[in-house]
Amino acid sequence: MELYIDTANLDEIREAHDLGVLDGVTTNPSLIAKEGVDYGKRLAEICEIVSGPVSAEVLAVDAEGMIVEGRERAKIAPHIVVKLPSTIDGLKACKALADEGTRTNMTLCFQPLQALMVAKAGAFLVSPFIGRLDDIGQDGMDLIAQIRQIYDNYNYQTKILAASIRHPLHMVNCALAGADVATVPLKVIKQFMSHPLTDTGLEKFIADYQKTFA
Ligand code: E4P
Repeated sequence: MELYIDTANLDEIREAHDLGVLDGVTTNPSLIAKEGVDYGKRLAEICEIVSGPVSAEVLAVDAEGMIVEGRERAKIAPHIVVKLPSTIDGLKACKALADEGTRTNMTLCFQPLQALMVAKAGAFLVSPFIGRLDDIGQDGMDLIAQIRQIYDNYNYQTKILAASIRHPLHMVNCALAGADVATVPLKVIKQFMSHPLTDTGLEKFIADYQKTFA
């Protein structure tokens, strides 16, 4: 399973990269706005740190505008993946960019037919948003399972990128459901290696050893 970090903050990306298990980065306009930096410049900086896929979202909402902007974003680095919304216009832009050989990440996916359509259009990634479905009282994990089944039924190669991951249990369930990738904030990534019994067990091992040998 691949692990991406969901941030536009360079310190967080460096910290996650230093763990040695980071496969890529996702950004979105909200994350860039939080940093208050130029989107293109920040993407170039991220691409220097991480060699895996870096998702760069377009700001246009019409197909033509998305294609133009997507081509520009794709020039930043070969590992840029153009992020498009899962709308009718996004679908058209996905097909056009995929036909040109540009990889796309179809974001804001909230129902299985969006995932089916973008796979048909040649999307590289589809991003179902788990946490935001949970927020409105729907089980986000059901969506991952449905998309997995549909993609397996027809052998679609589009990768399922579980997004809007809020806590470790989301990650466990995504891994069990067969998501190909998860994009996760740094705070949650760090929780993946945390258990109180690991901490107390380690303390006791060291204390026992020191009691005898120190
Ligand atoms: C994914 O690409 C999105 O940037 C992200 O996962 C959204 O997460 P949120 O719902 O916590 O904002």
